[in-house]
This record gives sequence, structure tokens and C-alpha cells, in this order.
Amino acid sequence: MKRDLLTLDDLSPEEIRGLVRDALRIKRGDLDVSRAMAGKVLGMIFQKPSTRTRVSFEVAALQMGGHAIYMGWEQLQLARGETIADTARVLSRYLDVIVARVYSHGDLVELAKYATVPVINGLSNEYHPVQALSDLLTMYERFGRLEGLKLAFIGDGGSNVCHSLLLGCSKVGVNVSLGVPKRYMPDRGVLERAMRYARESGAEIAIHEDPREAVKGADVVYTDVFVSMGFESEGEERLKTFLPRYQVNRELLKHVGKEFAFMHCLPAHRGEEVTDEVIDGPESIVWDQAENRLHMQKAILRWILGQGGG
Ligand code: CP
Ligand code: NVA
Repeated sequence: MKRDLLTLDDLSPEEIRGLVRDALRIKRGDLDVSRAMAGKVLGMIFQKPSTRTRVSFEVAALQMGGHAIYMGWEQLQLARGETIADTARVLSRYLDVIVARVYSHGDLVELAKYATVPVINGLSNEYHPVQALSDLLTMYERFGRLEGLKLAFIGDGGSNVCHSLLLGCSKVGVNVSLGVPKRYMPDRGVLERAMRYARESGAEIAIHEDPREAVKGADVVYTDVFVSMGFESEGEERLKTFLPRYQVNRELLKHVGKEFAFMHCLPAHRGEEVTDEVIDGPESIVWDQAENRLHMQKAILRWILGQGGG
């Protein structure tokens, strides 16, 4: 049976650890995947802009001996009313795997339901699982372990990145401390699932309104934009709530009280959720984090094509 990767609920803790391990071996040159996609074609349907996800998947397919086709949603007959189900049925006759970036997560579920090839979520309004997987790789690379680390996420608790970090971290025993305003808490369902995974892994999830409390003792301080793609109409209101209190700046970081790393999924809105001083500072590992997207995409493609790993 085909596997899809729509949220991190779809992966067991062992599979997540396996992907992290494989991606690190790929990065270090200990696992050769240069023919893992020979003769295979990855289709990429994107409804929103992308730099990292698009390019890292395309380069991954190429470096694995395969090929990638980028399809902007607007250029497909989808834009003229062809259904997602029919599109999925047709594309499955040509492609070996599909990555899709959409607004509504429901569209992705529909695509996966009718596609007979694996579907990978390249970001939806609600989830960004491939980002969280490569973030776990970056943390593992930096600290040599995952279990017992503490990640503090500051800002929009309802963002796709925060949701996927909650699910991924809780599955593998990374403690999560949120510093989020009451109005921008994570989705209740996501939080309940993360709490359940945390009980199984022994991780702790803490929610603070005060970001200074949230960052205390953190190994990783993580933030994402305050206004995600698709939420532009709420921009002004969001910035009023988040600024200046939830900005990751030197003043806030004084409260960490130990050595830590700063992470951001990128793109960053410098001067909003993070200052130049922090993102360009000595604790920042955002460029390694961005590079790791490529290594993790390879591990994911190899696994989802049934070539082992995960
Ligand atoms: N982090 C991330 O997914 O970046 P892009 O939007 O550029 O793909
Ligand atoms: N939360 C951000 C992530 C971008 C990679 C957004 O959805 O715009």
C-alpha cells in the first residue's frame, strides 16, 4: 500500500528517527542515493510561492538520478475547475510521487485520496511536516541527540511550522515550550495529539503567554513569521498583537540563561519576528537548517518510494 506524508501523525517515532539518521548519512556521504530515483519523476504542484521547498525537492530528485516537474496551480486545469480528484487520477498515470503546497489542508487530503502514487505535503495552511523533519535533523546534528532537548517556539502558535514541530518533537521526546499570545494558540486538535504523543515519549509540552518564561533553559529558540502565507488580510492585527513582545531579540534571549541555538524555517521578516542581530548572530544555525532541507528531502523521497529507510 502506498504511504503519504501529509502530517507527522503519519509517521511513527521510529520512522522519524530513521529518516533523521538516513538524512545525516546522506549528508555525510555514508549512504549513496545517487540512483535511488533513476527513471522516476517527481511532480510538484504549488499553489503558494516557495524557495527552499521547491528548490530542495527539485535538486534532490536530480541528484538521485530522477527528474522533477514544477507545476504552478494556476497553470494547471485545476485553475479552470478540473477537480482535484480527476487531477490526482491523471497525474498518477505519469508520475511516481507528488509534492503539493496548498492553502487548504483538505485539498491535500483529497489529492492523496485519489492519487495512486505517494503524496507529500510541501506545506499547507495547517502543517509543514517536511520542514519539521529537517529541523529535527538540524537539532540532532547540532546536539547529538533529540530526546530531552528543549525547543522554545515563540510567536504564532497556530502556524503550520509550530503545529508540525509540536507533533514531531512530541513523538521523539523533544520538550516543547511555547511562548504565544492567547489569541494565537495552536489548534486544539493538534495540541491534544501532541500531548498524547508526549505522554508516550516522555516529552513535556508547556504553554506560556510570557515569551521570557518560555525561553528559559531552552536548547533551541525557534520562531516563524507572524503573518504566514494566506493570512495577509490579518497582517496589521497580527503585528499589533505580536510586536514588540514576541520578537526574538537580544533582550529576550538574555532569559535563556544557557548556551542555545537559534532556528527559523525561513523566509524571515527581519525586524518583525527576529532582529538582524539574532539571525546573523553566533547562535544562529539557520543556513545549516536551510541546507538540511535538501538532505532530508532525499531521505523522504527514498523512504516514500519504498527503497528503505524511515
Ligand atoms: N521554509 C520553507 O518552506 O521555505 P519556502 O517557503 O521557501 O519553501
Ligand atoms: N508559516 C510560514 C512558513 C513558510 C515556510 C508560512 O506559511 O508562510
